[in-house]
Amino acid sequence: MKHLIAPSVLSADFANLQRDIEMINSSAADWFHVDIMDGVFVPNISFGFPVMEALKKHAKKPLDVHLMIVNPDLYIEQFAAAGANSITVHYEACVHLNKTVQAIHKTGAKACVALNPHTPVELLIDILPVLDMVLIMSVNPGFGGQQFIPNTLLKIRRLKAMAAAVNPGLLIEVDGGVSIQNMGDLIAAGADVFVAGNAIFSAESPLEMIETMKDISAS
Ligand code: DX5
Ligand code: ZN
Repeated sequence: MKHLIAPSVLSADFANLQRDIEMINSSAADWFHVDIMDGVFVPNISFGFPVMEALKKHAKKPLDVHLMIVNPDLYIEQFAAAGANSITVHYEACVHLNKTVQAIHKTGAKACVALNPHTPVELLIDILPVLDMVLIMSVNPGFGGQQFIPNTLLKIRRLKAMAAAVNPGLLIEVDGGVSIQNMGDLIAAGADVFVAGNAIFSAESPLEMIETMKDISAS
């Protein structure tokens, strides 16, 4: 499968949100990555339902919603109703992860689990068969524009091997510090979906950057 690009709306210009949404609509990008932060699970607050609604109104590609919040179970239905095509919860925020995944699937959305940089992929072995995607955080969650943590490559290789045995269709998403410098290695390691904020929105031409990212092959 050709890898997917999911520009992170967190890096958009919120005073010109419609313009940036239209840019992504007209680009080679595949999904919108939507970061929801509660100021408790991560030390930052991003945005909530009013922005989700604005996004849904204009976005012509699937919304990939990344919940960096405690008690995500409380909001799954509301995010699905607001237009989330995939819902990602953090392993570290879910005591009853299997139940949370069931609740996501009940809404019709794809279910994804995210791992912080210190959380081993091996902890997912018993939940892997029922997941659509795993998100590997390649920075500590909370902010865009941080530096990529190289150990991520090892985690992706280990996860890819685990998935080959129990869930070969699993998508592996990588989020944080993704750039054209590390994408070739990440593709070779087994990553399928690339979230990128700063690399796209601070580029001279975000449109061209998305196209370049889409064209990169494994190195
Ligand atoms: C970080 C968020 C990311 C962030 C990525 O906590 O989950 O999605 O927007 O931004 P960059 O690509 O700038 O690291
Ligand atoms: Zn994210």
